[in-house]
Amino acid sequence: MIKQAIIPLAGLGTRMLPLTKVLPKEMWPLGYKSILENILDECFDAGIEDVIFVISKNKHLIKQYFKKNKSLENIIKNKPDILKSLKYLNKISNKIRFVYQDKPRGLGHAVLCAERFIESKYFLLLLPDDIIKGKNCSKELSKINKKKNSSVVAIRKVKKKEVNRYGIIGIENNNDFKINYMVEKPSIKTSPSQYAIIGRYLLNKSIFKFLKKQKSGRLGEIQITDAMNLMLKDENFYGCRFRGKYLDCGTIEGYIKSFKEFNN
Ligand code: G1P
Repeated sequence: MIKQAIIPLAGLGTRMLPLTKVLPKEMWPLGYKSILENILDECFDAGIEDVIFVISKNKHLIKQYFKKNKSLENIIKNKPDILKSLKYLNKISNKIRFVYQDKPRGLGHAVLCAERFIESKYFLLLLPDDIIKGKNCSKELSKINKKKNSSVVAIRKVKKKEVNRYGIIGIENNNDFKINYMVEKPSIKTSPSQYAIIGRYLLNKSIFKFLKKQKSGRLGEIQITDAMNLMLKDENFYGCRFRGKYLDCGTIEGYIKSFKEFNN
């Protein structure tokens, strides 16, 4: 059973400025909960016991949200329903640890910042830009990991014009989606397929070795996709075509659609 998860939260949210200037997009509501709590629900439901949040100093509001607030609890002590939701936050905060990424040096670098906390052979990586509703994608990845004893990423077929927005995989065959190549945001011309990586990864901790070898790639950032592409030359790697509904919370238009999906 996979017990540890990393959630990168240090990004500046520039695509959604000025709305993200003060309130991190991960704290925006989706239904009754924030985007981040929806991600946490998926983690805990999949059996995760230890979550590592990678934040930056600008994202101190996230830390504050999960911190016990005794005076607030006192004020609402006669409103049991509201109190219950605050107490729930206290409970889950015991499972959350914070680590800082000082500079925005990319997703791969954010994952490296959490290395010292990872104890088990495999861990989950969840990107809060991507919500998968209806079916627990982390559980689906775990199943494949158990069967194949290898790393797994969530994948989804996207339109040709969308391949330059995602990490894209090349596959050996359509039966079990064994991956033989990965590339970050290729052009349509050079893309090995239309299967895009969606933000759920179940990784062997050997990824850290490959991340350390990684020179800054596209946009001067350390890309996890480049490190995974090195890794799959040494070990098996599979894609998981998940069954849940994918909601893109990485753009304002996507967020509005997702919000509607949670509130209809
Ligand atoms: C990141 C990854 C990319 C992946 C995407 C999924 O990109 O680098 O490989 O396909 O998440 O949402 P970003 O959206 O941070 O640019």
